[in-house]
Amino acid sequence: MATSTTLAKADESVAHAARLDHVSKSFPGPSGPQLVLDDISLDVAPGEFVTLLGASGCGKSTLLNLVAGLDRPTAGSLTTDGRPALMFQEHALFPWLTAGKNIELALKLRGVAKAERPGKARELLELVRLKGAYGKRVHELSGGMRQRVALARALAQESKLLLMDEPFAALDAITRDVLHDELTRIWAETGVSVLFVTHNVREAVRLAQRVVLLSSRPGRIAREWTVDIPQPRRIEDAPVAELSLGITEVLREEIRRHGQH
Ligand SMILES: Nc1ncnc2c1ncn2[C@@H]1O[C@H](COP(=O)(O)OP(=O)(O)OP(=O)(O)O)[C@@H](O)[C@H]1O
Ligand SMILES: [Mg+2]
Repeated sequence: MATSTTLAKADESVAHAARLDHVSKSFPGPSGPQLVLDDISLDVAPGEFVTLLGASGCGKSTLLNLVAGLDRPTAGSLTTDGRPALMFQEHALFPWLTAGKNIELALKLRGVAKAERPGKARELLELVRLKGAYGKRVHELSGGMRQRVALARALAQESKLLLMDEPFAALDAITRDVLHDELTRIWAETGVSVLFVTHNVREAVRLAQRVVLLSSRPGRIAREWTVDIPQPRRIEDAPVAELSLGITEVLREEIRRHGQH
């Protein structure tokens, strides 16, 4: 099958932020190629918030890396509306730079003129509610603050699509809760499309308009749910809990089927 990874031009005719068409991915293994993702077809609409849910090792990060253009599919085709921005579990900020300078670096890479960068960096810090952090170095910030700076830096790229790989997994529950609220607000304010990877069912339901469940070995789309619960949601809301319970049952079944823990 033909393989192509194309960055589509950002114009009106593009009806999706990302489109995966029969995408498969194999890695070389000890006894031949190991199929990790099998025949994934998935569209993310402009402005849509999709969470990708699945057990550990099912291929979520592999899929996100393909969408990011960091790796290429073995088969199938993949297009995105411009170059996506990325945010990982680890903040990956430069420790020798201040929060402000980390963001300015992203602005510089986007071609923003030097004189405009400090003002824009401050605006972005304000968007993630970290106004006072401009001159702070990374080690002076808490884990939650670092992820806010990382989010501001991702937003500095002004991409149409934000790819997030378990960005809040290392945070305590309260901080995570606050950042869920912030992300939902920023998503609504900016109109950015989000593809968010997690193995936390409640988090997936709390955030998304659509939850896509991946099966394991190989990763296939097992099921999808549309989440009609109005935002802002709370992770402990009854409808969130109820849908999460249903999804967890399907996820458990998937894990049992593939003999994982
Ligand atoms: N570069 C690589 N070379 C070989 N195998 C790889 C490579 N990247 C990932 N894999 C394998 O692909 C499978 C899926 O890995 P991946 O990191 O995508 O899972 P995941 O769903 O993100 O898991 P987790 O929830 O633990 O982060 C694993 O079996 C992993 O060992
Ligand atoms: Mg992963």
